[in-house]
Amino acid sequence: MPTLVIVGAQWGDEAKGKLVDVLGGEAELVVRYSGGNNAGHTVITGGQEFKFHLIPAGILHRDTTAIVGSGMVVCPKGLLEELDRTLAQKSELGTLIISSAAHVVFPYHRMLDSLEEEARGNNRIGTTSRGIGPAYQDKVARIGIRMGEFVDPNVFPARFAEVVKVKNQLLAMFGKDPLDLDALLEEYTAYAERLRPYVKDTDPIVQDAVYGGKRVLFEGAQGTFLDLDSGTYPYVTSSHPTTGGACLGTGIGPRMIDSALGVCKAYTTRVGAGPFPTELLDDVGEWIRQHGKEYGTTTGRGRRCGWLDLVMLRHSCRLNSLSGLVVTRLDILSGFETVKVATGYKLDGEEINYVPTNTFDFERVEPIYTELKGWSGDLRKCRKLEDLPVETRAYLDFMEEYTQTPPAILSVGPDRDETIVLRPDLIWGA
Ligand code: IMP
Repeated sequence: MPTLVIVGAQWGDEAKGKLVDVLGGEAELVVRYSGGNNAGHTVITGGQEFKFHLIPAGILHRDTTAIVGSGMVVCPKGLLEELDRTLAQKSELGTLIISSAAHVVFPYHRMLDSLEEEARGNNRIGTTSRGIGPAYQDKVARIGIRMGEFVDPNVFPARFAEVVKVKNQLLAMFGKDPLDLDALLEEYTAYAERLRPYVKDTDPIVQDAVYGGKRVLFEGAQGTFLDLDSGTYPYVTSSHPTTGGACLGTGIGPRMIDSALGVCKAYTTRVGAGPFPTELLDDVGEWIRQHGKEYGTTTGRGRRCGWLDLVMLRHSCRLNSLSGLVVTRLDILSGFETVKVATGYKLDGEEINYVPTNTFDFERVEPIYTELKGWSGDLRKCRKLEDLPVETRAYLDFMEEYTQTPPAILSVGPDRDETIVLRPDLIWGA
């Protein structure tokens, strides 16, 4: 059962899209398991840049089936736009399937996302305003509409009318005009008709593939510290980007996962509000943002940048039971005389070596740094470990020793080819 989960080991934007693209061609099925179009995965291949928010990046491989999993929330308009855009760029894509259990994101979710953010005042989360939180709220409140119901003309109109009635009451509380049910129904019925051929019960498809010994890649979105339960609550997303989420959002059990790779940058970034102990609010942070083009794929917001936090990374390795690390953006860190990594924190004068669960404690920790030698030169040309500067290799050794997790793959540039595979045995099993 060669199954692999790819998970963001930090706060998202670790370049998972590139990895899914690189490995997706080796998989028969690529299944995305959480989130919605709050995610942004960029893939650069053959001189072309593809941007995905909902569709698994594996779709770029003609023989791969890309599944929008049951744990996701799907904006129909966004999905269709993405599909049309991708088809205009590349006519031969893999097969797209959308889980009938995935929830639908409607305009009222997006409106409520912004209204709720405004109401939070100084405690804003900094959401992507894509309606993700409100869509998952409806799922948990058991009034959400799933893709299977959405594309069923005998079910959708009545269900939608019921829900819009409730949402209009909610919008009135925020002083907003009611939504026009008829206009929305017409617009969304047209989306449903186009999407109907793609919607299927995906649990049996995924299970048959896994139990049939096919290669299946589970594609995570966002990152570990944005996980609703394990992240820096309340500054989190509303789903489960962790390895555990791959079971919750696809229809398989934990013993069916053979390998989990955690993608991490050689430094740290975060979008939105919340604690970030190693954040650099100085020229160095700005340098990383500029050189790394650290701006959000979905919102265009400048990402907060800082040194690598090994305390967090070790927690991530354990929480996700990672088989190996995929270290990206090593090329961006080139040019510093020394680089720092957090190897502990000070909390109220005491040294600790774990991530405090209480976010308000985590906001107060001061990082304890270990300083390592930096490196220089253009790493994008390197194609094997020995090509890398000795200081970069020492940095990787230090990461491995601290986290007890080996680097399996290195990314030294955005292109598919700018990749160094160190441990093929950790990808699909020996
Ligand atoms: P939401 O997922 O739009 O509700 O946003 C909640 C938090 O997660 C905000 O801090 C967002 O910036 C962050 N977030 C959501 N999706 C991503 C992502 O794909 N990359 C990085 N941060 C994200």
